[in-house]
Amino acid sequence: MRKKLIVGNLKMNPLTPTEFGRYLDMLERETNGKNFEKTEIVVCPPAVYFRQFLERKMKDVKLGAQDVYWEYQGAYTGEISAGMMKSNGAEYSIVGHSERRKYFGENEEIINVKLKAILKSGLNAILCIGESGEERKSNETASVLKKQLEKSLAGIGIGKTEYITVAYEPIWAVGTDKVPSSDEILEAKIIIKKILAELYSRKAVEKMRILYGGSVKSSCAGQVCVDPAMDGALIGRESLTPYEFIKIASLVDGG
Ligand code: PGA
Repeated sequence: MRKKLIVGNLKMNPLTPTEFGRYLDMLERETNGKNFEKTEIVVCPPAVYFRQFLERKMKDVKLGAQDVYWEYQGAYTGEISAGMMKSNGAEYSIVGHSERRKYFGENEEIINVKLKAILKSGLNAILCIGESGEERKSNETASVLKKQLEKSLAGIGIGKTEYITVAYEPIWAVGTDKVPSSDEILEAKIIIKKILAELYSRKAVEKMRILYGGSVKSSCAGQVCVDPAMDGALIGRESLTPYEFIKIASLVDGG
């Protein structure tokens, strides 16, 4: 069985290296002595904190990037390539997060080239997809997920699928404290698996993990992760509190 995956997306936090140092102290304390047999834990801090993270040599927590640029190297002021993330210690990268779509105008074409760059560099990808509240109300969830997956995965061969995790993050649940029911999540998971099986094969899909993301807390981890048998979770706000973050990881590991 493939391990489950718990990802903490710290977004643009914390503000200073001192605060990040304190965060890492707490994360070390929470993971010490715990054995996550069935679960991989990944933290995605801002890239300026990569070195500080790696200096701790935490054996149970891996490093991930929140985003990459699709070009390999060159005159792209302000950007960081997938290869740079990888050579600076990242093992994973998030791509297609709804905040990137909303604030930076990322569309499926951009997500597709970023995903290709991530896979080419040897990073594992966490591809975020999900419908808006409006789209859910008008029963468009399945067609939105299909369009997002087809376009984001265009030109990516079956040999790469084991390095791709799909995170189902309904936009209306991200940062809102609203969460879907277990049944709604299970339904989305079945839709995603079907689309992926059509694009690749049933066998390939078995190796792809499907996470839930959007307002995950320890109090609802059972409902949004364990009950719909998700392969893990992508966690925003609660990942800033190591006690809660690791509590969710323990619940998923035991579930
Ligand atoms: P949230 O964020 O857990 O704060 O809703 C989730 C995400 O942005 O991936």
